[in-house]
Amino acid sequence: HHHIDNATVEKVDAIIAAKHFHADIPDYEALAAYQANGGYTQLTTLRDGGDWEAVQATIKESGLRGLGGAGFPSGTKWGFVRGAEGPRYLAVNGDEGEPGTFKDRYYLERTPHLFLEGMLIAAWAVEADTCFIYMRDEYPAVLHILAEEIKALEAAGIVSEGFIDLRRGAGAYICGEESAMIESIEGKRGIPRHRPPYVAQVGIFNRPTLVHNVETLLWIARVMREGPEILNATEKNGRKGLRSYSVSGRVKNPGVHLLPAGSTITDIIDACGGMLHGHSFKAYQPGGPSSGLLPASINDVPLDFDTLQPLGTFIGSAAVVVLSDHDSAKAAALNMLRFFEDESCGQCTPCRTGCEKAVKLMQADTWDQPLLEDLCQVMSDASICGLGQAAPNPIRLTMKHFGEEI
Ligand code: NAI
Ligand code: SF4
Repeated sequence: HHHIDNATVEKVDAIIAAKHFHADIPDYEALAAYQANGGYTQLTTLRDGGDWEAVQATIKESGLRGLGGAGFPSGTKWGFVRGAEGPRYLAVNGDEGEPGTFKDRYYLERTPHLFLEGMLIAAWAVEADTCFIYMRDEYPAVLHILAEEIKALEAAGIVSEGFIDLRRGAGAYICGEESAMIESIEGKRGIPRHRPPYVAQVGIFNRPTLVHNVETLLWIARVMREGPEILNATEKNGRKGLRSYSVSGRVKNPGVHLLPAGSTITDIIDACGGMLHGHSFKAYQPGGPSSGLLPASINDVPLDFDTLQPLGTFIGSAAVVVLSDHDSAKAAALNMLRFFEDESCGQCTPCRTGCEKAVKLMQADTWDQPLLEDLCQVMSDASICGLGQAAPNPIRLTMKHFGEEI
């Protein structure tokens, strides 16, 4: 309804340009350095008559599972996409919006070509026509690096011009949900689609689409270069493989810590140099706000795919946030629901209205627990996508473990 004059448009353009211009570009491994270390030899060998089924078998042998958070077996996904009639697409989910998750950014700002080579190997395996990279706009340095390095790949003749299509997200958490991301890539408002059909069959412009998270692709390159042992040889507490835990909160050295997948919260806090001085460990978010909070007493369970299911939660993208005696579990849970209320796409009532109602109920001094449980049931049963289905987790876990606060 507003008339926007040219001066305003110029002002906004200047702000956007300044934001990107001032992006602090870290030192990273550019194309020449990556190639000098053996980079792109795997891709070249595979393109030169490689057997895609052998590659798929190697990926399966490594045990690699989707590292966006759901842990779907990567090799199996390739089979679905390659088994569907072409043309096919590949889409990279770089919309790392889960609060507390920053592993993709960490890797992209250091070794972007490990990711790009993994992406091109996956594109080769499923015979994709185009690779769309959907990258969140809040990562200006990453966008800059990728734009530069894609140009370098084109100049080196490793990809043809336009084969990699770099897209900027616009700040909506829901666009990290794969079908909403696809809507957004198609130029529409990003709202989740019903599944099935899965995007492996009906994805971008209704074509079969291989969707992978950034880190998953990086491991594809490493498995092809270093062998499946790089993942399957590590064993701890009965779990195989490695996890990139994004750790934040009241620990001495927060950051991305690559640890065995069988690591417990005790191991993770140890890897971070312990708790901050003057803080004692109280609670933790194992994998993003949709995983809620666990109490410090549950400190011996491996933080891996499937292991947290009996506890009513999951590891997701391994966004571990450590809380101390200085923090309130009640306030943290309310903050999580406020986030979901803001980020709900509004398409379905259980989530749109449910998140709003939950926030109101959670602001009370004393929670109406039976009513909240009713609401949780409706939200988890009837929401279209993972946002609304998992939003009750922080409510339920807070009722279960932090009863004295609510
Ligand atoms: P999902 O389990 O429904 O799907 C995972 C993947 O497997 C998808 O690519 C899906 O298409 C595919 N898939 C599943 N079953 C299939 C079948 N039968 N045939 C073909 N393909 C199939 O999980 P979803 O909803 O995609 O992801 C949820 C996870 O995302 C949560 O664990 C959450 O923690 C995480 N998440 C991560 C964020 C981040 O920033 N990294 C942000 C928000 C959520
Ligand atoms: Fe949108 Fe929430 Fe429904 Fe997902 S559950 S489709 S975010 S309203």
